Amino acid sequence: KHIRNYNFDIRMKSVTRLCHTKNMVTVNGKFPGPKIVAREGDQVVVKVTNHVSNNITLHWHGVRQLRSGWADGPAYITQCPIQTGQTYVYNFTISGQRGTLFWHAHISWLRATLYGPIVILPKRHVPYPFPKPHKEATLIFGEWFNADPEAVINQALQTGGGPNVSDAYTINGLPGPLYSCSKDTYKLKVKPGKTYLLRLINAALNDDLFFRIANHTLTVVEVDAVYVKPFNTKTLLITPGQTTNVLLSTKPNYPNANFLMAARPYATGLGTFDNTTTAGILEYEKPNSTTAGTTASSPKLPIRLFKPKLPALNDTALAAKFSNRLRSLANAQFPANVPQSVDRRFFFTVGLGANPCPKNQTCQGPNGTKFSASVNNVSFIMPTTALLQAHFFGQSKGVYTKDFPGFPLLPFNYTGTPPNNTFVTNGTKVSVLPFNATVEVVMQDTSILGAESHPLHLHGFNFFVVGQGFGNYNPKTDPSKFNLVDPVERNTVAIPSGGWVTIRFVADNPGVWFMHCHFEVHTSWGLKMAWVVLDGKLPSQKLPPPPSDLPQC
Ligand code: C2O
Repeated sequence: KHIRNYNFDIRMKSVTRLCHTKNMVTVNGKFPGPKIVAREGDQVVVKVTNHVSNNITLHWHGVRQLRSGWADGPAYITQCPIQTGQTYVYNFTISGQRGTLFWHAHISWLRATLYGPIVILPKRHVPYPFPKPHKEATLIFGEWFNADPEAVINQALQTGGGPNVSDAYTINGLPGPLYSCSKDTYKLKVKPGKTYLLRLINAALNDDLFFRIANHTLTVVEVDAVYVKPFNTKTLLITPGQTTNVLLSTKPNYPNANFLMAARPYATGLGTFDNTTTAGILEYEKPNSTTAGTTASSPKLPIRLFKPKLPALNDTALAAKFSNRLRSLANAQFPANVPQSVDRRFFFTVGLGANPCPKNQTCQGPNGTKFSASVNNVSFIMPTTALLQAHFFGQSKGVYTKDFPGFPLLPFNYTGTPPNNTFVTNGTKVSVLPFNATVEVVMQDTSILGAESHPLHLHGFNFFVVGQGFGNYNPKTDPSKFNLVDPVERNTVAIPSGGWVTIRFVADNPGVWFMHCHFEVHTSWGLKMAWVVLDGKLPSQKLPPPPSDLPQC
């Protein structure tokens, strides 16, 4: 098997966007960080050395980490942070996956600047299940804060209010021509009459994004590193934590025009968000032009530049329509192994709530309380040591309790009048699953402080999205409508605003696995929980011991 070695040096670097220069945490001085390229079956070895004053961990988002949970990365879940001056080697094998994923910091809000693409090519001589593209390009969406994002979230957590929003969205770190004082635009140079594979990644902190290219149709072929039945669309929806591969067929002849590729939020929630648009330019090379490839350069807008019409900010119908079109390939070569029966059934409510304001403090959350977020009304408290270590060495006492989700729940109409008491409980609780259990989780948006979509991300597994809908989940009638044939398989799913989704997965990966909203602000408020998956009987079903350089708390 081929080994892909990377050195990631965490360093400060001065970066300028929107006429603001700031010193920020980067990998190897790059923003966005370096791209990891591997083939299915390769071993990836990333040596991370921390040269900054912040504690660091990195996460390989969507990589299954089969029996390599020590390399997964969420701080205080699978590892203690890499402290200043320390090194940790993330070592994992990519098996059974090919497509687009990404890596990002998994501690506090450092993923605002520490992120980069992961491109997993099929095994050598294995073609894509779609026509071979002429070229490939990666577009990773992010957010730019003029302020230090660490200061933004620390301030929000102290005051109990919402954080300040970012100042721009970015494509490959560049805000594009629609912001004032923006000097940097991503450009994709293309030739007429060709097909391009675009690898789209939403690494933004807090916003679902609609994406569209003016005057072009896109063919969706893969999400979250799983092939899907191809379909055409003009507009895409991509939540934080999701990736989408699309084919772009360029116009047959040189169009004598350029086209904006633009993204802006889909948002239904309360509170503030950055409602601006980031854009890159799809630039057709003039016939006989010799320059090729993609570059970043100053936004000299050409005379004819077409702009895409993006949907309304709160177009939930379009968001749902897009999600409902996603289907697994489910063919002989790429079967959809959907669990047809269920060993463990869970019903989780997810949403926002509040904590009382501490005495002698004024809080800026709802009615003078502190904002909070919860799963089943439990707002997850981060432990001070890593859950995986505590589990592996049998030292869970005082670290976590195994009583999640704590049935029975109070009956409540999730779409109707909010309850009088919007306070959450707080705790570090996990759900324990036997090895190989088939698990079904219904996740219901509570809408207690307003309906909001939540991009729920599960570490260590892909899951099948067997059902979704609006309003209250009905356990009597909804299961009969589940798709157990070709549901989309992914690692991050949007729980619809004011609705629910049902996922199924097989607990075939021993370890401790984080599940959380990929809106960083909701995670910070506690919308997270962890699964403990027990070892199986065979040696090949057990989590190996930790590597010797695993950081200590
Ligand atoms: Cu993309 Cu828990 O993370």
